[in-house]
Amino acid sequence: MTGAPVGDLVAAAVERRTAVPSFNVIGLEHAEGIVLGASRAGIPVLLQISENAIRFHGGGMRPLIAACRELAEAAPVDIGIHLDHIEDAALIDEGIALGSAFGIGSIMVDASTLDYADNVRTTADAVGRAHAAGLWVEAELGAIGGKDGAHAPGVRTDPAEAASFVAATGVDGLAVAVGSSHAMATRDASLDLELIAALAAAVPVPLVLHGSSGVPDDVIREAVAAGIRKINVGTALNIAYTGSVRSFLDADDRATDPRKYVAPARDAVADLVQRFCEVISPALLSRKASR
Ligand code: G3H
Ligand code: ZN
Repeated sequence: MTGAPVGDLVAAAVERRTAVPSFNVIGLEHAEGIVLGASRAGIPVLLQISENAIRFHGGGMRPLIAACRELAEAAPVDIGIHLDHIEDAALIDEGIALGSAFGIGSIMVDASTLDYADNVRTTADAVGRAHAAGLWVEAELGAIGGKDGAHAPGVRTDPAEAASFVAATGVDGLAVAVGSSHAMATRDASLDLELIAALAAAVPVPLVLHGSSGVPDDVIREAVAAGIRKINVGTALNIAYTGSVRSFLDADDRATDPRKYVAPARDAVADLVQRFCEVISPALLSRKASR
């Protein structure tokens, strides 16, 4: 199907006390690898396109999202399309305007660098318009580390403030700062699992873990058990992709056809996505078996 409704996928994860894996797309081959890995695992995932990825392509969000929509439509599993870390007001407007008619199922309105009152104002304004367009909306409260050095990794989301933020904005999902940090190249982050449980108890919407590339498998499982319901992974895919390209080119300095080294890199992404799916959403594996 074309761009599965993200709210439905997250609701299914909530019901099964598991999480929806959500993977960053940089280009077509990333999207192909992610869909292939998810299809092999038999688990619904999100293709998430960040503001940085949109800017990298230079021609607006439509070409990459159109490619993701076509891949989603042809996939044997449900694939949702999510706009990730959208800070720019014009891009928020464009994402809402394209909306579900263009295959987009959700948007993360990221006003987390603003102070609390401005974060609430910016998020609430976008939520009303995004809901009218049929989109599920995620926002961020707290300071998840590693985003262009903008945030301090030590800061944590406060449960009471998070509950107030959700009530004041009407968001459907909340990204929380619980110890993970964006763009980690090592998998040794430790999470505050007690805080995740406290947030899950206090906040009436699903919680989202960002910066999950740096979180070890067993800690990802513990985070899901504590109440995380959407898990964002980006950097780990890039490490796998680039590592594959590097080893191919190191072994063959006469290679010229990108297909020769991009194909194994795409496979490396697919393998890793499949593995992440099996770690993050084992409860959804049984869904495949029962189909
Ligand atoms: O929103 C995207 C994620 O938080 C990805 O973070 O690149 O550190 O895995 P990561
Ligand atoms: Zn993130």
